[in-house]
Parts: sequence; C-alpha cells; structure tokens
Amino acid sequence: MEDILKNKLKYLVNKKKTLLEICETLELKNYEVIGLVELMKQDGELLDYVNGEIVKLRKPIKNNDVYELPNNMEHLKLLLISDTHLCSKYDRLDILRYLYDKAEDKGIKHILHSGDFTDGKSHRPEHIYELKEPSYEGQVEYCVEKYPTFSGKTYVIAGNHDGWWYKSAGSEIVKSIAKQREDIIYLGSDVADMKIGKLKIRLFHGNGGNAYAKSYKLQKYLDTIPVEEKPHILQTGHIHQAFYYKQDNTHCLQTGCLEDLTPYARSLGFSGDKSCWWLDINFDDKGNIYSITPELETFGKKLIRRR
Ligand SMILES: [Fe+2]
Repeated sequence: MEDILKNKLKYLVNKKKTLLEICETLELKNYEVIGLVELMKQDGELLDYVNGEIVKLRKPIKNNDVYELPNNMEHLKLLLISDTHLCSKYDRLDILRYLYDKAEDKGIKHILHSGDFTDGKSHRPEHIYELKEPSYEGQVEYCVEKYPTFSGKTYVIAGNHDGWWYKSAGSEIVKSIAKQREDIIYLGSDVADMKIGKLKIRLFHGNGGNAYAKSYKLQKYLDTIPVEEKPHILQTGHIHQAFYYKQDNTHCLQTGCLEDLTPYARSLGFSGDKSCWWLDINFDDKGNIYSITPELETFGKKLIRRR
C-alpha cells in the first residue's frame, strides 16, 4: 500500500502538481504527504519539501561542497563500480545489466561509479577503430538508451576518458547523459564528496599512468586529504585493478573496470580486473558507522546471459 502511495506521489510531483492537488488526489493531509516524502528521501528519492511545495531535486542538496543524502537505516548496502568505458567495442553491458538486476534484488538504492563512464574519444588516431560510437551525440544516445535502470540512483563522476570531450569540445558528456536520465546523478569531474547519513564518501578517478605498485597512488592520495576531511569510504577508479586496504577509519576501495582488455591496453602491458565491490555498512542506534564490510565480485570473459 505504501509503495503504491509512493509511486503515485512520485508521478504527481513529476507532473508538477501543487501540494494541495497532491493532498486532494491522494486523500491525505499535507503533513502525511510531507511525512511520506521524508520516508522516500530515506530510500534515496531526490524529493524535498521546499517553500510549501514538494519538489524534485536534480541532485542531492550540497553543503560545503558535499552532496548530502539522509539515512535512517541501520544497514545500508552499496554497489561500487567504475570504468565502464561505454561505447568501446570492449564494453560489457552484459555485466552491468547483471549487476543492476542483482542490486535491485538486494534492495540497493545507491550505486556509486568512480568515472570513465564512457570511452570518450582520444587524440590517438586508431582509437576510433575501438569505438562503437565515435561521435559525441552517438555516445550520449548509446548511454542514455542502453545504461541499465533500477529503482535507485547511480551517482557518478567523470573520469579522464569522459574528460577528453571536455578538452576537445568543452562538452561534459556525463552531465549530458545524466540530464536525460533521472536515475543517473552527475556529481562533477574527477572528484566528489558525498554523505549518506553520517557515512562520508569520496569518489576519485585520477589520471596518469600506473605506479610501480598498484596501491602506491591511492596511499599517496589518501595522505593529501586533511584529517578532518578523511572519508569513511574512498572509492577510486582509473587503474582498472581492484584492491582494498584500510587506513585508520578510511576504507580504500580501488575499483576495477567493467570492460574487456583493449588491444591498446594490452600493447602497453596493462592488465584489467573486471570486478565490483558490494559494501555492507552497519550503523549504531545514533547513526554512527559501526562496521563496513566489502566483498569483491569478479568477472571473466564469458558473456552473462540475462535471467
Ligand atoms: Fe578507465
């Protein structure tokens, strides 16, 4: 019953109905509608009660450069993905679809993506032969149409591949995609901070080549964050390899990629881990973080068939 009401409320807000009209249609008092909105916010819905009306937010509210989402759950589950390189001939939409279906089954409401959403287009002439869609419009359309949907939101930053469009044409491709997909929330380029309840998260993509040890760059980066800003979760992308370590209260999750190894990457001697992180976070009764447990899921070459 509550789900039906929530869906109706979402529909009415999308239709830009006033609070009075919403109350009449749902046969609820205004404080009941506002209460329902509060419940929906806990589910990750980007709605709010502002100046006497229920409004839809394009992004979470930002305070001091941190996107803030409410949480009253004792147990929060997250999916961390990165480097999907969509529009590359080596992208793996099959894995993405499998992950989004699984996230839905697990009741996950927030999926975090640490950049290189698209493969972009580099100055390397032969890159064009590795792309399914070489044009900007083609890449936007491909992602808008093919990126899997689920009932929650995907929060994403742009990586260096997405940034090539910005360098060559001043266009922010992930922003353009997110404009056409209400479930994809663009948080900015290369780095973004967010909070879910008291859980502090930093998404960081990074740039440049690989270090001699895969953990080196991440450790160096963590050292640059002032103590008071250190997140509970530092999710990074870019190097297409997965590893985890914990330093003080920060769980560092280097997130692998979701594309097959390209001939170019192979020629440079790079490797790529197709993987994701599932996170289980427990809060105590004051909303403080009690435990964070990561679980790695890896993927091979074989295509994953849809159920
Ligand atoms: Fe990448």
